Order: sequence, then structure tokens, then C-alpha cells
Amino acid sequence: MSYTSQLRELIKKVEQTREKRLGNEFPRMTPEEKEDVLSNYHPDHIEEQFRDAKIGPNKGDKFPHELCDVIEAHPSIDWEQFDTSKIDYDVDVLVVGGGGAGASASLLAHEAGADVLLTTKLRFGDANTVMAQGGIQAADKSNDSPATHYLDVIGGGHYSNVPELVRALVSDGPYVIDWLEDLGVMFDKEEDGTMQTRHGGGTSRKRMHSARDYTGAEIMRTLRDEVLCRDINVIEFSPVVELLLDKEGKAAGAVLYNFETQEYQVVKAKTVIITTGGLGRLHTQNFPTSNHYGATADGLVLAYRAGADLAFMNTVQYHPTGASYPEQIEGFLITEKVRGLGATPLNIDGEQFVYHLETRDVEASAIIRECAKGKGIKTPSGMQGVWLDSPMIEKIHGEGTIEKELPAMVRQFARFGVDITKDPILVYPTLHYQNGGILINDRCESSVDNLYVAGEASGGVHGRNRLMGNSLLDILVLGKRAGKNAAEKAKEIDNEKSELTLEHVKNFVNELEEQGIEKTKTSPILIPDYTKREEN
Ligand code: FUM
Repeated sequence: MSYTSQLRELIKKVEQTREKRLGNEFPRMTPEEKEDVLSNYHPDHIEEQFRDAKIGPNKGDKFPHELCDVIEAHPSIDWEQFDTSKIDYDVDVLVVGGGGAGASASLLAHEAGADVLLTTKLRFGDANTVMAQGGIQAADKSNDSPATHYLDVIGGGHYSNVPELVRALVSDGPYVIDWLEDLGVMFDKEEDGTMQTRHGGGTSRKRMHSARDYTGAEIMRTLRDEVLCRDINVIEFSPVVELLLDKEGKAAGAVLYNFETQEYQVVKAKTVIITTGGLGRLHTQNFPTSNHYGATADGLVLAYRAGADLAFMNTVQYHPTGASYPEQIEGFLITEKVRGLGATPLNIDGEQFVYHLETRDVEASAIIRECAKGKGIKTPSGMQGVWLDSPMIEKIHGEGTIEKELPAMVRQFARFGVDITKDPILVYPTLHYQNGGILINDRCESSVDNLYVAGEASGGVHGRNRLMGNSLLDILVLGKRAGKNAAEKAKEIDNEKSELTLEHVKNFVNELEEQGIEKTKTSPILIPDYTKREEN
């Protein structure tokens, strides 16, 4: 499905302004302009899209409706009849989730001498990590420093980030890059062998390390291989459907549901690490999403029922450039690397309306505003979008750059007859990331004893807005810390005589009933139900 004749006509306007735009940098917004576009157009500022949580540790806090719906749902297991005394696995550290955070947590826990079990809902590696395209930030160049990286992170997060987490992120960054290289990640290099680094939105230094436009896939490939080469037990297609606590209310295991045998299994563990990712598949405010199918907020549901505090759950990241054409890939991520290489967003008249590397929340809001002003482009499926002028990249960096730097994107669009080296891409913001999550400290401890969290499921490090490339970094920084600390803690725990309970689930159900919330919905939902979405 190449561009329709109407869209081809509009592309001519983009071509007409291209020469004029070359070398003419669009002005950046002032702080006041940013504030204005955010408060008027960012989806986080639409009050009626949020409601007060009725129960649990964050009762009274604003959550998106879609999150409230899963948080305030009933357990899926028959908790009153469930036998928690029949133990199927007894391990030191249970890791829940098979993405980059889960893999790195498992590796570090294993290195610290723990008996580790990693369980995952889909296949090991089916996670947002593999879908991360543009790169991973780390301040390892001579003109950069963790302190400069720190300032960028908290500036991007509107100074709301938890400082100790940002310090952990930026200080461990350079070591994480070395660790990945040692494990075999093939980063893009200059001819002299130094790391190639680029800008992302809101970065004051070029510190984005990449592997073409499939950086996450390259990292996950390496981590997965490493886990499989070690004596780490991995169970696939077995989501956790409930955490188990001991009599003192400390995390002590989990109930797994085996998708294939449809049986439940009980894991006893001295410590538990949640690395289940985010909520992208809840489609907040009906946005399309760049996320993988498993991103259904399971970790939030489990931890919340067990009493863990959540943070920043009233802020969701909409990546400025999701595909809005062709229909088959609506919401698919168009990496920020495309803008990092110089492609700029343009309206229906082929005119630029925003500096191309504003922070994500500002850039996305500016695109939403442009479309609201009637300056967007209608797609045949009824979506709207603006142009992202990818051919500019070849003008700036020379012919062949797109094929070299963005090979996966070239192929993705070629499947539909669109040549992004010659024609611009139609884009609109897509639900990309959960800025908040389960609140942790810099040891990755949640507010529930012996329950650790890493990656997108955790909250605090990015505050109210994450910058590009800091998620691939946080899954590794926090994953490693969680694995190490959970393993060390496990050494102090003697759980031989401790009993596993679902008492917290009973208490949660009591709260639901007190609020008059009937059992019409259960969670964690595990797999998004698109038949229901269509009906709605
Ligand atoms: O645009 C991107 O490549 C996305 C990266 C990220 O979310 O960090």
C-alpha cells in the first residue's frame, strides 16, 4: 500500500520547502511556551481521563481510568480455596518477567550465588526491550559526565524525579555499556573504534549509543544468550497471577499459571524481583501503542495488592512519532533516532512547527496541537498525522545514510511500498511508556519487604517524563542492582519454616467489597482482549 494520490499531492509541498529548511534551524521553545503547550495539549493534563484510586496504598491518587480498571479488579484465582502449601519450586530469587531487566537481574543474582528462577508470560525476550530502537544513553565521552547526564534527566522529568534513582542511573551508565560490550553487544562504532554517539530529545551531549535501529533487540539477544548459557532456570508461558507473602507480610513467592497446561504452580522464594514492564497495552485515552502484547500492567496489579506504593501513575509517555500510515502499523515506533539524524516534523503545508528535538512530552504536545489546529493530514483510515521528513537525513548526511542507520525502518515501510529514503513518514503520538510505576529506592527495594522491582515496572527515576535512551539504561542499571541486592538479601533469610499466604489478597478483596466493587472484572489481565476493544 504505497501513498495514495491525495497523499502524494501533499508530499509535493514537503519537497517544495525542503531546500529552504536545510541549514535553517527552527527555534526551540521558551520555558513559557513549553508550559503552555503541555498544559493545553498533553494528554496527562486532561482531567477527566483520570480518577481517584478507591483502594490500596495510593487510595485517593489520580490514575488513568484504564489503570484503575485493572487495579480495582478482583483476583483471577480462587484465592479462598487455593492451596499454598504444595510447593512446586523452592528457590532463592524469583525473577518475574523476561525482558532486559529480568535478564540482567537474573545474571547478577546468579553471579552472587543465588539459585534463580526466571518466569515469563510469553517467550523469554518477548518484551519492550527488543522493540527499543534508537539507543541507550550513557555519559562515557570526554566532553560528558554523569553530572551532565543527571541534569538532562531531571530537566526532562520536570525536576520531579527521585534524586537517588537518577544518581544510580547516570553513575552506573558507563559501566553498563562496558558490561554489554564484554557480553558481546555490537554497538555502532566510528572508524577509529570509538563509540558512535548521537543526540536524543533533551540531551545536552551526544551520548546515545546504538546498534543501528535495533539496539534493544541486540541487547536482548546478548542477555538472553548469557542467561541460557548459565545454570539459570527459565520458565516460559507462565505468568505470575498472584504474589505470595509470609505471615509477616514479606514477599515470599508467587503463584504461576501455566498457559499450556492451564495449571497453577507455587513458587517459594526468599526474595522476588518484579520486572514485568509497563501498561502500554491498556491503550490509555484510546491511543495506539508502540508496546508489545504483554504490556498489561501485571506487575503493578500484583505489587499493589501486596501493599506496594506506586509513584507517578498520573503520567504516561506518548512518543511523538508513532506511525499513522499505513493502517497495518498504526502506533508502531518511528525511532527518535530519525529526528536525531535531522528529520523534522512538518504540517500539511510542508512547514515546520516545532524544533525537532524538544523533549518527548513537548514534541508530542506540539504535534497534537498542530493537528487540533487543522494543520494535520488525514489518513485513509481516518487517523491524523504530520509529516516526518526522513529524506532530509540524506540531504544532511549524504546518500545511503538511512539504509545504514535505519535498516529495520527501511524494511518495515518497504513492506507497504513506502520508501522512506525518498518520501516522508506520516506520524502521530503513540502510547510508549509508563513514566511511573512501583516506587523503589536505589537498592530497587519496594515498600514491601523482600520485593524488588526493576525496569519499566518501577517508578521514580524518570519523574514525569523520560528522555530517549534512558529506559534501555534503567532496565540494566536497576536490573543489575535488583539482582545483586535481592541475592544478598536472600542469604540472610531462613524461610524453611515460613508459610506462604494469600492473606493480602483476602484483605484486598475486602476493600473492594467495602467500596462496592463487584466481581465483573479480574486482573492481572495478562493478554489484551482486542475483541472487547472493538466492541467498545
Ligand atoms: O525512539 C526511540 O528509539 C525510543 C527509545 C526510547 O524510548 O528510549
